[in-house]
Amino acid sequence: MGNPDASIRLALWGIGRVGRSFLRLLQEPAISPTALPGLPLEIVGIADSQTALLLEDQRNLGPIIERKESTGRLEIPPGSALAVAEWREWLSQARPDVLVDTSVADFESAQPAWELYRVALGSGVAVITANKPPLVHDLKGLIRLAARRGTWLRCGATVGAALPAWAFLDLLSRQEKICRMDVVLNGTTNWMLNEMESRGIGYGEALAEAQRLGYAEPDPTRDVQGLDTAAKLLILANGFWEETFFWSDIEITGITGLTHESLQSERDRGYAVKLVGRLAGEQGHRRLSVKPECLDAAHPLAALAGSQKGIYIETTTGGRYALTGGASGPGPTAASMLRELREWIEMKKRGDAEHRPW
Ligand SMILES: NC(=O)c1ccc[n+]([C@@H]2O[C@H](COP(=O)([O-])OP(=O)(O)OC[C@H]3O[C@@H](n4cnc5c(N)ncnc54)[C@H](OP(=O)(O)O)[C@@H]3O)[C@@H](O)[C@H]2O)c1
Repeated sequence: MGNPDASIRLALWGIGRVGRSFLRLLQEPAISPTALPGLPLEIVGIADSQTALLLEDQRNLGPIIERKESTGRLEIPPGSALAVAEWREWLSQARPDVLVDTSVADFESAQPAWELYRVALGSGVAVITANKPPLVHDLKGLIRLAARRGTWLRCGATVGAALPAWAFLDLLSRQEKICRMDVVLNGTTNWMLNEMESRGIGYGEALAEAQRLGYAEPDPTRDVQGLDTAAKLLILANGFWEETFFWSDIEITGITGLTHESLQSERDRGYAVKLVGRLAGEQGHRRLSVKPECLDAAHPLAALAGSQKGIYIETTTGGRYALTGGASGPGPTAASMLRELREWIEMKKRGDAEHRPW
């Protein structure tokens, strides 16, 4: 961005719950404490799984969002946008400065998101994403590419929705050597474990209630088997540790085998059972695990209530730091992406040459 006052061209990939919340926050900066009033932004493209639009008239954004919400379709408002057949063409014609990904990729292929990021970062376009699979696939490779091209990748929304776990680690890892990280980053399982323990309900009842209240997906496999936490742990580990970690490096056990009796018995002994992702051990001997852990009352993550999340860090100089809280859901997730967008804009305006590429 040569001229700091020039408008920023933003392309949005995915316009589901998070994508629409993100666009709404951009349109109504007053409702977001993180939004910059008068953000000099131009939305140059929007895509869903069927249609990729190039936008020519910002006034049509509201109707596009409303139509998508009511019909499920991304429609072309007359005379204001054109559709392209394929994402490469969309990206090259939209010419964004920043690509915001709120789409859903599958974990098996991570496509097309991973390839999209490669092309975007490779052309110097910054990427802000909420989409985990491309990062699980190869975050280190994407970071290296961003560094080579002098651009930026941000993915805080993938590891804790609104909880700024990524920014927290970014700050601490610049100043200290981290020797242990514990995370509770799956709100669904934290909610279920709390309900099982406090109300004495069984696993099946807690899951059914979580689904009824919208905390759990209709297919809860990724949450209850610990796979969602493992993906977040892997993203943080590859984001902030020198080594490259792989999925196969993580020992994973979910919460499906737990009973309310076992949780209550641990509580009576002074422990809280949480689904903990942990990275510990020296370089060359790191251990990554996701499993139910009995945390004693002094552990900062032991008291996480409801669907709260948290991250706890120990450093080699004896530092102990914890960050907890952070709302879940599309609105807070979109707000955290907006925070990263603002950070990127401010960094570009400062002409910050020494920035990290992530
Ligand atoms: N919801 C949350 O609270 C939350 C929290 C943290 C992170 N996230 C992450 O944020 C992302 C979005 O979540 P969401 O709840 O907004 O999901 P969603 O409502 O299902 O929306 C997903 C959007 O991605 C689009 N999409 C899917 N495949 C695509 C493709 N190949 N190319 C282009 N667009 C594609 C979908 O298109 P169609 O509209 O055509 O189906 C839809 O617009 C996910 O990666 C999720 O894991 C969500």
